[in-house]
Amino acid sequence: MTVPRHFYNIALVGFMGVGKSSVGRMLAGQLRFDFVDTDDLIEKRAGQSITTIFAQQGEAAFREMERQLVVEMQGWRRHVIATGGGLAANLENLASLKQHALVVCLWATPEAIFARVRHQSHRPLLRDADPLEKIRALLAARAPAYKQADVLINTAWRSQMEVTTQVAHQFQLASRTERSRVEKSY
Ligand code: S3P
Repeated sequence: MTVPRHFYNIALVGFMGVGKSSVGRMLAGQLRFDFVDTDDLIEKRAGQSITTIFAQQGEAAFREMERQLVVEMQGWRRHVIATGGGLAANLENLASLKQHALVVCLWATPEAIFARVRHQSHRPLLRDADPLEKIRALLAARAPAYKQADVLINTAWRSQMEVTTQVAHQFQLASRTERSRVEKSY
């Protein structure tokens, strides 16, 4: 028997630089859902930037903040959630998201990601002598988790608007399937 799902929210997961926040904002506007970016919320609550949190408190402390936020999301409704790139690499976080959200992974190759993030400096994990190699290694390590998302969308050759439309379509399909399953069970 399959476990019943509830698609109250949409969670966008995937590597840094794939467009989760831009797509999430557009999508929330279209669906009239609230938009939350987990990095922004963590920064706001901690009163520190992600870079400072990593430098002063360490990555483990940041991961714990992410984990606590994931627990809190269980009570959210009608939210589009753009997650930090490492959040869904934790399988417990991913399983928790699946209890209330359609989990959509935005995908890109290491080269495309590098092209998008190379001039940005706010990601502590990419401050590396060889950032492309670091992206390759991290993406390879996280791929098995990312691939457990409900929907995987390759962002290559698609504009952010096209990706947004694709996610909205998948969400409608998932919600419709859930509704018909509930109706059949009566
Ligand atoms: C991280 C991705 C970042 C941010 C932090 C760690 C990661 O978020 O959470 O720097 O581990 O991949 P974005 O994916 O929004 O850049």
